[in-house]
Amino acid sequence: MAAALEISGLTRRFGGVTALAGVDLSLLPGEVLGLIGPNGSGKTSLFNVLSGHYAPDAGAVRLDGRDIAGWAPRRIARAGVTRSFQNLRLLKRLSLYENLRAATHSAASGRELFWQSRAAKRRERSQLMDLLALFGLEDKADDAPGALTLVEMRQLEIARLLAARPRLVLLDEPAAGMTPAETARISRIIAEHVLPGRSVIVIEHKMPLITALCRRIAVLQAGVKIADGPARAVLDDPLVRQSYFGSRPC
Ligand SMILES: Nc1ncnc2c1ncn2[C@@H]1O[C@H](COP(=O)(O)OP(=O)(O)OP(=O)(O)O)[C@@H](O)[C@H]1O
Ligand SMILES: [Mg+2]
Repeated sequence: MAAALEISGLTRRFGGVTALAGVDLSLLPGEVLGLIGPNGSGKTSLFNVLSGHYAPDAGAVRLDGRDIAGWAPRRIARAGVTRSFQNLRLLKRLSLYENLRAATHSAASGRELFWQSRAAKRRERSQLMDLLALFGLEDKADDAPGALTLVEMRQLEIARLLAARPRLVLLDEPAAGMTPAETARISRIIAEHVLPGRSVIVIEHKMPLITALCRRIAVLQAGVKIADGPARAVLDDPLVRQSYFGSRPC
């Protein structure tokens, strides 16, 4: 099967820091990859380069065969890649519904929006309300995100990702700040609503979420991929345990 995403030799430096040092990684269509590694190992930098927020210094990123390295974020979003951020980036002054609408339109061109007919607007409203209903948030459509719990905010963020109709989803620490019970809940929500039919990379420090969602895990250390393979084998790899878990069992 042809890879959905093929990263080769990806390198990104920040002054004297090499955040990514020649990373190779490929993902099959529909595959779910867990990306782990110590703080500062380059995980978010990889997402920043994949989503176009930073240009790489070297290397290629092929999405369905096209090299998208260095494309602008909006162009990459239009090509079917969406990401979440380590820190929630909801639009606090907008309602939940408007948050979703903004996400759909971040992937659309101004021209498409200008020509949106009344029927298209109605269709869009019903699709977005269905999406809110999927997460049980339809009654709060007109509320601001500030009124939501942490899990609901993450759900809204996931709904925002899905509103952009992505083929590749990049999740950066979706369980950040959550209790074990909340982590289990968001993990079930991701399994049910995000994974089906999409290629997904999940960054997370919380191993229960990674092992629940990902059969394959890759590990970054100081910008270098030090392991990549079946989840159990990677977590049992002495090099990984040494570098990431300080040789604690995980
Ligand atoms: N915009 C930036 N400017 C300067 N240095 C940066 C920038 N972004 C990342 N870095 C550096 O690149 C390295 C990798 O950072 P990155 O945020 O990718 O790590 P991470 O694996 O996501 O860590 P964490 O688990 O803490 O989120 C770090 O040394 C970081 O300080
Ligand atoms: Mg990070």
